[in-house]
Amino acid sequence: RLGGFPHYMQKEIFEQPQVFYNTLQAVRESPDALDLLRGRDRLTIVACGSSYHAGLLYKYLLEMYCGVAVLVEQGSEFKYYPPPLSGTVIGISQSGETADTLAALKMAQSRGCKTVAVTNVVGSTITRMTDATIHLRAGPEMSVAATKSFIAQLAAGLGITDALTDGSHAEENTRINVRIEEILTIPITEAVGLCSSASSLFYIGRGLFYPAALEGALKMKEISYIHAEGYAAGELKHGPFALLSGETPVIAIAIPGAAYPVMLSNIKEIKARGAPVIAIGLAGDIELAELADIFIELPKAPESTAVATVSVLLQRLAYETADSLGRDIDKPRNLAKSVTVE
Ligand code: F6R
Repeated sequence: RLGGFPHYMQKEIFEQPQVFYNTLQAVRESPDALDLLRGRDRLTIVACGSSYHAGLLYKYLLEMYCGVAVLVEQGSEFKYYPPPLSGTVIGISQSGETADTLAALKMAQSRGCKTVAVTNVVGSTITRMTDATIHLRAGPEMSVAATKSFIAQLAAGLGITDALTDGSHAEENTRINVRIEEILTIPITEAVGLCSSASSLFYIGRGLFYPAALEGALKMKEISYIHAEGYAAGELKHGPFALLSGETPVIAIAIPGAAYPVMLSNIKEIKARGAPVIAIGLAGDIELAELADIFIELPKAPESTAVATVSVLLQRLAYETADSLGRDIDKPRNLAKSVTVE
């Protein structure tokens, strides 16, 4: 049943190279959904939890590469405080049953919007109520924590970006599954040791790596029960700095791109306040390696590939930390797989 894996979560993490490939294919085979997304200068996304973080990734991807303005809203807020709406609204939901996301989509429809579902469950409620669907094809996700469905949602975002830019990402996208494969085995024991003895963790990133930081922190708190917060790296100095000490490791994602130099400055500021830094960067980054207490190097890749490898690495960090603490990984306390009440 578990094919030699101790937990569903680890099994699902290891399925991700194949899942990524399947989802890209699924997007190409969803012309109705793509038609509702093409030619818009503005899109709205509604989702909850990890799916909301995927929505934030879509915002960066679509704004950076397609010039589309994207508003991302949590389902629970959207229904009661809807923004001015027009055009197409995308609902992202692994289960297709999350009450807050469904309620938000209903509200959007009542305001005359077209709706597109991005979901992993064929025949789920979301697929029956929306105008078109992209099926993620990640296969059933058994662990409560979203892993392969999150990577599939990211793959769908990259597939949509490719479709809206006439194939400009196609070649790069097809290489991502191989890159993910490489992340499954790189050693992270030292980082796991530091995280499992911490009572509080910060995750920071900029651009695409800001939602990746939010998702990394969510995964960590969900299954290890260690308090973890994701921040846009520039925000840490606006308050959270007061919490930094030798007991609060900071996981800093520093991938070369527009914000790279300022990320290095942020890391220096954090070090000056005594917090240990686990830096995640690209292979051969000597400057980052020297700054960090622990340096995890990922294969060299552009940002839109690195966001996939970083996300998988952070899933492993959460999983292995929770495992070392003996947590009930597939069924964390107080949580259910799908939340069908508002
Ligand atoms: C986190 C997690 C939840 C879900 C959220 C939305 O690991 O699984 O945060 O992402 O409950 O669920 P779906 O995507 O089914 O709408």
